[in-house]
Amino acid sequence: MSAIGIDITGKQFPARAGAPAREIFRDFRLDVAAGEFLVLLGASGLGKTTLLNIIAGLDTDYRGAIRFEGAPPRIAYAFQSPRLLPWRTVLENVALVLPSGAEGREAARAMLADVGLAELADAYPERLSLGQQRRAALARAFVLRPDVLLMDEPFVSLDEASAHRLRDLLRRLIIRHPATVLFVTHDSREAAALASRIVRLEGTPVHIARDIRVDLGAAERGSPARLQAFLVAAGLAEPEALSDEV
Ligand SMILES: Nc1ncnc2c1ncn2[C@@H]1O[C@H](COP(=O)(O)OP(=O)(O)OP(=O)(O)O)[C@@H](O)[C@H]1O
Ligand SMILES: [Mg+2]
Repeated sequence: MSAIGIDITGKQFPARAGAPAREIFRDFRLDVAAGEFLVLLGASGLGKTTLLNIIAGLDTDYRGAIRFEGAPPRIAYAFQSPRLLPWRTVLENVALVLPSGAEGREAARAMLADVGLAELADAYPERLSLGQQRRAALARAFVLRPDVLLMDEPFVSLDEASAHRLRDLLRRLIIRHPATVLFVTHDSREAAALASRIVRLEGTPVHIARDIRVDLGAAERGSPARLQAFLVAAGLAEPEALSDEV
Protein backbone atom coordinates (compact mmCIF):
# COMPACT_ATOMS: atom_id res chain seq x y z
CA MET A 1 0.00 0.00 0.00
CA SER A 2 1.19 3.44 -0.69
CA ALA A 3 0.05 6.99 -0.05
CA ILE A 4 -0.36 9.14 -3.17
CA GLY A 5 0.26 12.86 -3.50
CA ILE A 6 -1.48 14.26 -6.58
CA ASP A 7 -0.37 17.71 -7.66
CA ILE A 8 -1.40 18.65 -11.19
CA THR A 9 -0.58 22.27 -11.89
CA GLY A 10 -1.85 22.08 -15.48
CA LYS A 11 -3.50 19.68 -17.91
CA GLN A 12 -5.05 20.66 -21.21
CA PHE A 13 -6.34 18.87 -24.24
CA PRO A 14 -5.64 20.80 -27.43
CA ALA A 15 -8.40 21.88 -29.79
CA ARG A 16 -9.33 19.25 -32.34
CA ALA A 17 -11.94 18.73 -35.06
CA GLY A 18 -14.11 21.69 -34.13
CA ALA A 19 -13.86 21.20 -30.35
CA PRO A 20 -12.03 24.04 -28.56
CA ALA A 21 -9.00 23.43 -26.32
CA ARG A 22 -9.95 22.35 -22.81
CA GLU A 23 -8.16 23.02 -19.57
CA ILE A 24 -9.03 20.02 -17.41
CA PHE A 25 -6.83 20.62 -14.35
CA ARG A 26 -5.26 23.76 -12.91
CA ASP A 27 -3.60 23.66 -9.47
CA PHE A 28 -5.41 20.47 -8.56
CA ARG A 29 -4.21 18.80 -5.35
CA LEU A 30 -5.39 15.64 -3.67
CA ASP A 31 -3.59 13.56 -1.06
CA VAL A 32 -4.67 9.95 -0.72
CA ALA A 33 -3.68 8.10 2.45
CA ALA A 34 -2.26 4.58 2.31
CA GLY A 35 -5.08 2.05 2.46
CA GLU A 36 -7.80 4.57 1.73
CA PHE A 37 -10.70 3.54 -0.51
CA LEU A 38 -11.30 6.85 -2.23
CA VAL A 39 -14.29 7.17 -4.55
CA LEU A 40 -14.27 9.97 -7.12
CA LEU A 41 -17.75 11.15 -8.04
CA GLY A 42 -18.43 13.62 -10.80
CA ALA A 43 -20.33 14.36 -13.98
CA SER A 44 -19.36 13.02 -17.38
CA GLY A 45 -16.48 14.74 -19.12
CA LEU A 46 -14.97 16.33 -16.01
CA GLY A 47 -11.62 14.56 -16.23
CA LYS A 48 -11.93 11.51 -13.96
CA THR A 49 -10.48 9.06 -16.48
CA THR A 50 -7.80 11.60 -17.35
CA LEU A 51 -6.85 11.74 -13.67
CA LEU A 52 -6.55 7.93 -13.42
CA ASN A 53 -4.51 7.85 -16.65
CA ILE A 54 -2.11 10.43 -15.20
CA ILE A 55 -1.74 8.50 -11.93
CA ALA A 56 -1.19 5.26 -13.87
CA GLY A 57 1.55 6.93 -15.91
CA LEU A 58 -0.37 6.39 -19.17
CA ASP A 59 -0.73 10.14 -19.74
CA THR A 60 2.46 12.10 -19.13
CA ASP A 61 1.41 15.25 -20.98
CA TYR A 62 0.70 17.44 -17.94
CA ARG A 63 2.48 19.80 -15.58
CA GLY A 64 2.94 18.74 -11.98
CA ALA A 65 3.83 15.54 -10.21
CA ILE A 66 2.37 12.36 -8.80
CA ARG A 67 4.27 11.21 -5.73
CA PHE A 68 4.05 7.78 -4.20
CA GLU A 69 5.25 7.24 -0.67
CA GLY A 70 8.02 4.70 -0.30
CA ALA A 71 9.10 2.27 -2.99
CA PRO A 72 7.57 2.60 -6.47
CA PRO A 73 4.17 0.93 -6.15
CA ARG A 74 2.71 -1.86 -8.21
CA ILE A 75 -0.28 -0.26 -9.89
CA ALA A 76 -3.25 -2.16 -11.31
CA TYR A 77 -5.83 -0.43 -13.49
CA ALA A 78 -9.33 -1.79 -14.09
CA PHE A 79 -10.62 0.08 -17.12
CA GLN A 80 -14.20 1.09 -17.76
CA SER A 81 -14.58 -1.71 -20.30
CA PRO A 82 -13.04 -5.04 -19.24
CA ARG A 83 -10.56 -5.04 -22.18
CA LEU A 84 -9.94 -8.78 -22.32
CA LEU A 85 -7.99 -10.01 -25.33
CA PRO A 86 -10.50 -12.04 -27.36
CA TRP A 87 -7.88 -14.44 -28.79
CA ARG A 88 -6.66 -15.48 -25.32
CA THR A 89 -8.45 -17.66 -22.80
CA VAL A 90 -9.66 -16.16 -19.54
CA LEU A 91 -6.72 -17.78 -17.73
CA GLU A 92 -4.24 -16.40 -20.27
CA ASN A 93 -5.78 -12.93 -19.95
CA VAL A 94 -5.21 -12.97 -16.21
CA ALA A 95 -1.75 -14.60 -16.39
CA LEU A 96 -0.67 -12.06 -19.03
CA VAL A 97 0.17 -9.44 -16.40
CA LEU A 98 2.53 -11.84 -14.57
CA PRO A 99 5.96 -13.17 -15.56
CA SER A 100 5.36 -16.14 -17.87
CA GLY A 101 5.69 -19.64 -16.47
CA ALA A 102 3.89 -22.24 -14.40
CA GLU A 103 3.94 -20.12 -11.25
CA GLY A 104 2.10 -17.25 -12.94
CA ARG A 105 -0.48 -19.60 -14.40
CA GLU A 106 -1.12 -21.16 -11.00
CA ALA A 107 -1.51 -17.72 -9.38
CA ALA A 108 -3.93 -16.73 -12.17
CA ARG A 109 -5.91 -19.95 -11.72
CA ALA A 110 -6.16 -19.39 -7.94
CA MET A 111 -7.29 -15.81 -8.47
CA LEU A 112 -9.94 -16.92 -10.96
CA ALA A 113 -11.25 -19.34 -8.33
CA ASP A 114 -11.37 -16.43 -5.84
CA VAL A 115 -13.62 -14.44 -8.18
CA GLY A 116 -15.86 -17.43 -8.96
CA LEU A 117 -14.58 -18.14 -12.48
CA ALA A 118 -12.67 -21.41 -11.95
CA GLU A 119 -14.89 -23.23 -14.42
CA LEU A 120 -14.42 -20.65 -17.15
CA ALA A 121 -10.61 -20.44 -16.93
CA ASP A 122 -10.11 -22.13 -20.30
CA ALA A 123 -13.01 -20.39 -22.07
CA TYR A 124 -12.56 -17.45 -24.43
CA PRO A 125 -13.94 -14.05 -23.33
CA GLU A 126 -16.76 -14.08 -25.91
CA ARG A 127 -18.44 -16.86 -23.91
CA LEU A 128 -18.55 -14.68 -20.79
CA SER A 129 -21.43 -12.44 -19.71
CA LEU A 130 -20.50 -8.82 -18.98
CA GLY A 131 -20.59 -9.59 -15.24
CA GLN A 132 -18.20 -12.51 -15.75
CA GLN A 133 -15.92 -10.34 -17.89
CA ARG A 134 -15.85 -7.79 -15.09
CA ARG A 135 -14.95 -10.56 -12.63
CA ALA A 136 -12.09 -11.58 -14.92
CA ALA A 137 -10.94 -7.94 -15.01
CA LEU A 138 -10.98 -7.90 -11.19
CA ALA A 139 -8.91 -11.10 -11.15
CA ARG A 140 -6.41 -9.55 -13.58
CA ALA A 141 -6.12 -6.49 -11.31
CA PHE A 142 -5.73 -8.39 -8.02
CA VAL A 143 -3.39 -11.10 -9.30
CA LEU A 144 -0.74 -8.37 -9.51
CA ARG A 145 -1.01 -7.86 -5.73
CA PRO A 146 -1.19 -4.12 -6.38
CA ASP A 147 -0.23 -1.44 -3.86
CA VAL A 148 -2.43 0.99 -5.79
CA LEU A 149 -5.63 -0.04 -7.53
CA LEU A 150 -7.25 2.31 -10.05
CA MET A 151 -10.84 1.45 -11.03
CA ASP A 152 -12.78 3.38 -13.67
CA GLU A 153 -16.50 2.62 -13.35
CA PRO A 154 -15.72 -1.10 -13.13
CA PHE A 155 -19.34 -2.14 -12.52
CA VAL A 156 -21.15 0.14 -14.93
CA SER A 157 -23.88 -1.31 -17.22
CA LEU A 158 -24.62 -4.24 -14.91
CA ASP A 159 -28.04 -4.93 -13.44
CA GLU A 160 -28.25 -3.94 -9.78
CA ALA A 161 -28.12 -7.54 -8.46
CA SER A 162 -24.92 -8.29 -10.41
CA ALA A 163 -23.35 -4.97 -9.42
CA HIS A 164 -24.22 -5.71 -5.78
CA ARG A 165 -22.51 -9.12 -5.95
CA LEU A 166 -19.43 -7.59 -7.56
CA ARG A 167 -19.23 -4.89 -4.89
CA ASP A 168 -19.35 -7.62 -2.23
CA LEU A 169 -16.62 -9.50 -4.06
CA LEU A 170 -14.48 -6.37 -4.31
CA ARG A 171 -14.87 -5.75 -0.56
CA ARG A 172 -13.74 -9.30 0.20
CA LEU A 173 -10.77 -9.03 -2.17
CA ILE A 174 -9.66 -5.74 -0.61
CA ILE A 175 -9.80 -7.21 2.90
CA ARG A 176 -7.59 -10.08 1.75
CA HIS A 177 -5.26 -7.94 -0.39
CA PRO A 178 -5.20 -4.42 1.06
CA ALA A 179 -4.43 -1.64 -1.42
CA THR A 180 -4.86 2.10 -1.81
CA VAL A 181 -7.88 2.39 -4.10
CA LEU A 182 -9.11 5.16 -6.39
CA PHE A 183 -12.52 4.20 -7.72
CA VAL A 184 -14.52 6.29 -10.20
CA THR A 185 -18.31 6.07 -10.38
CA HIS A 186 -21.36 8.17 -11.24
CA ASP A 187 -23.43 6.27 -8.70
CA SER A 188 -23.42 7.94 -5.27
CA ARG A 189 -25.00 4.91 -3.61
CA GLU A 190 -22.23 2.70 -4.96
CA ALA A 191 -19.78 5.29 -3.63
CA ALA A 192 -21.25 5.13 -0.10
CA ALA A 193 -21.40 1.32 -0.23
CA LEU A 194 -17.65 1.04 -0.86
CA ALA A 195 -15.75 4.18 0.11
CA SER A 196 -13.80 5.20 3.16
CA ARG A 197 -13.77 8.67 1.57
CA ILE A 198 -15.81 10.29 -1.19
CA VAL A 199 -14.47 13.20 -3.21
CA ARG A 200 -16.97 14.97 -5.45
CA LEU A 201 -15.44 16.80 -8.40
CA GLU A 202 -17.00 19.73 -10.23
CA GLY A 203 -16.23 22.35 -12.83
CA THR A 204 -13.80 23.11 -15.61
CA PRO A 205 -11.01 23.15 -14.62
CA VAL A 206 -11.91 20.58 -12.00
CA HIS A 207 -12.06 21.42 -8.32
CA ILE A 208 -12.97 19.39 -5.25
CA ALA A 209 -16.53 20.34 -4.29
CA ARG A 210 -16.96 17.89 -1.39
CA ASP A 211 -14.54 15.71 0.56
CA ILE A 212 -16.38 13.37 2.90
CA ARG A 213 -15.19 10.64 5.23
CA VAL A 214 -17.42 7.57 5.15
CA ASP A 215 -17.51 5.63 8.37
CA LEU A 216 -20.34 3.15 7.88
CA GLY A 217 -20.59 -0.37 9.24
CA ALA A 218 -21.32 -3.46 7.17
CA ALA A 219 -25.03 -3.43 8.03
CA GLU A 220 -25.42 0.18 6.88
CA ARG A 221 -23.49 -0.47 3.68
CA GLY A 222 -25.80 -3.37 2.88
CA SER A 223 -28.99 -1.34 3.30
CA PRO A 224 -30.08 0.90 0.39
CA ALA A 225 -32.29 2.95 2.73
CA ARG A 226 -29.45 3.63 5.17
CA LEU A 227 -27.06 4.45 2.35
CA GLN A 228 -29.60 6.92 1.02
CA ALA A 229 -29.98 8.48 4.47
CA PHE A 230 -26.19 8.86 4.69
CA LEU A 231 -26.05 10.46 1.24
CA VAL A 232 -28.82 12.94 2.07
CA ALA A 233 -27.13 13.88 5.37
CA ALA A 234 -23.81 14.33 3.54
CA GLY A 235 -25.42 16.55 0.91
CA LEU A 236 -24.68 14.04 -1.87
CA ALA A 237 -28.32 13.20 -2.64
CA GLU A 238 -31.70 14.86 -2.49
CA PRO A 239 -34.29 13.42 -0.13
CA GLU A 240 -36.61 11.19 -2.12
CA ALA A 241 -40.17 12.46 -2.06
CA LEU A 242 -41.56 9.05 -2.87
CA SER A 243 -39.62 6.01 -1.82
CA ASP A 244 -40.57 2.39 -1.59
CA GLU A 245 -37.70 1.71 0.79
CA VAL A 246 -38.30 1.66 4.50
N1 LIG B 1 -7.31 12.40 -25.96
C1 LIG B 1 -8.14 13.43 -25.82
N2 LIG B 1 -8.09 14.49 -26.66
C2 LIG B 1 -8.91 15.55 -26.53
N3 LIG B 1 -9.82 15.65 -25.55
C3 LIG B 1 -9.92 14.65 -24.68
C4 LIG B 1 -9.10 13.48 -24.75
N4 LIG B 1 -9.42 12.64 -23.74
C5 LIG B 1 -10.40 13.24 -23.06
N5 LIG B 1 -10.71 14.45 -23.61
C6 LIG B 1 -11.69 15.41 -23.11
O1 LIG B 1 -11.34 15.76 -21.78
C7 LIG B 1 -12.48 15.83 -20.95
C8 LIG B 1 -12.33 14.88 -19.79
O2 LIG B 1 -12.37 13.54 -20.27
P1 LIG B 1 -12.42 12.29 -19.31
O3 LIG B 1 -12.54 11.09 -20.18
O4 LIG B 1 -11.27 12.34 -18.38
O5 LIG B 1 -13.78 12.56 -18.52
P2 LIG B 1 -14.55 11.65 -17.45
O6 LIG B 1 -14.75 12.47 -16.23
O7 LIG B 1 -13.82 10.36 -17.29
O8 LIG B 1 -15.96 11.41 -18.15
P3 LIG B 1 -16.95 10.12 -18.12
O9 LIG B 1 -17.61 10.18 -16.78
O10 LIG B 1 -17.89 10.36 -19.24
O11 LIG B 1 -16.11 8.88 -18.31
C9 LIG B 1 -13.67 15.51 -21.85
O12 LIG B 1 -14.23 16.71 -22.26
C10 LIG B 1 -13.06 14.78 -23.02
O13 LIG B 1 -13.80 15.01 -24.18
MG1 LIG C 1 -14.31 8.38 -17.78
